[in-house]
Amino acid sequence: MVVGVSGGVAAYKSVHLVRLLVLAGHEVHVVPTEDSLRFVGTSTWESISRNSVTTSVHDDVAQVRHVALGQAADLIIVAPATANTLARMAAGFADNLLGTTLLASTAPVVVAPAMHTEMWSHPATRHNVDTLRARGVHVVGPADGPLTGGDSGPGRMSEPEEILQAALAAVPGDADLAGLQVAVSTGGTREPIDPVRFLGNRSSGRQGADVALAAARRGADVRLLAAHVGDGVLAEAARHPRITIEHAGTAVELRDAALSAAVETDVVVMVAAVADYRVAEMSDRKLSKQGDEGLSLDLVQNPDILATLARDRREGQTIVGFAAETAQTDDELIAKGRAKRRRKGVDLLAVNAVGWTKGFESVDNAALVLDAQDNVLTRVQGSKRDVANALWDAVLTVRQRTRTESTLGEPSLPET
Ligand code: C5P
Repeated sequence: MVVGVSGGVAAYKSVHLVRLLVLAGHEVHVVPTEDSLRFVGTSTWESISRNSVTTSVHDDVAQVRHVALGQAADLIIVAPATANTLARMAAGFADNLLGTTLLASTAPVVVAPAMHTEMWSHPATRHNVDTLRARGVHVVGPADGPLTGGDSGPGRMSEPEEILQAALAAVPGDADLAGLQVAVSTGGTREPIDPVRFLGNRSSGRQGADVALAAARRGADVRLLAAHVGDGVLAEAARHPRITIEHAGTAVELRDAALSAAVETDVVVMVAAVADYRVAEMSDRKLSKQGDEGLSLDLVQNPDILATLARDRREGQTIVGFAAETAQTDDELIAKGRAKRRRKGVDLLAVNAVGWTKGFESVDNAALVLDAQDNVLTRVQGSKRDVANALWDAVLTVRQRTRTESTLGEPSLPET
């Protein structure tokens, strides 16, 4: 693993991060920027990482260190990532060892930004972070809290334990889904009213993209059925060799895509926010305002794709749904989830609480997973990627259960 350290006072916290990585058994190479050595010096990094440390591409030239480090890395963490380093990463600068290492690598990259709130909120930084995210870089934090100047706000580097967790989640894991064909739907459908207007929803498509990516990283072949998603949400999925993306804009288009994908997939996960209704008759012309009266739209129900998939599922096929619910209490959330699971007839239902500020467009998520016996199989709180991985663990558990039950159900051989 490569830990890049840029010049912020939070560098002292990265000493603990490197120590945690070493204790967890990882081979760690620290690549500080020249500026960062004012905060933490080479000797500290060398003694904690147990590897030699340099900031320059001109040391160790014979071994082409920048290329060697970048190519060998399974993961690159940049902590702290200053506004300057984020900008340089976004632009692809390669005038120090950290920049060249990043460019020479195809490993996942995790950055932990640290800076003053004003710098973090500046449009330039926002743009750079968006660029990095769209490229698949994982951004941890920053946290909201006291900053060095005595002020307080978003900009404080996340704690080493949190960075470690995000870093380990970004490393390609076991291929425990290898050989599995899966379909995942994501995003929100848009039901046209006329050529320029539609009925839609706030789904960003992030959770579904993460469900697809988690499956692909764990070895599955994935058909990602994408309705409308936010900018850059599919960027990482589009680059993954085991994911193919198919676009389906309306509920009816998504139904057709899902039914055709279901013919050849072992697992279908419907994460998409599908509109329950569409306009009965779409107007070919843009509707114009009529006098002072209000306007009524006639709506007809859309097909329930998930219920159809569950009803027609092949033997051995696992159908998974997502339910976004508003609930005051955990009990209410579970009760709503159970009722929905039964109504849809699915093998697994991931239930998450949504509101004006949580769920849909946020980066983090919390969910519980109900199985076909209505038990809460798992609870997970964290990034949408954590939710995705917990969901695949649950899928493996129920598929294993089904296999065991069908084996136990077979008549035993007569004793000889
Ligand atoms: O009923 P509700 O929309 O809350 O159900 C959510 C789940 O059902 C999601 O998995 C969603 O993808 C799926 N769904 C569907 N077809 C619909 C509506 C929802 O497949 N028409």
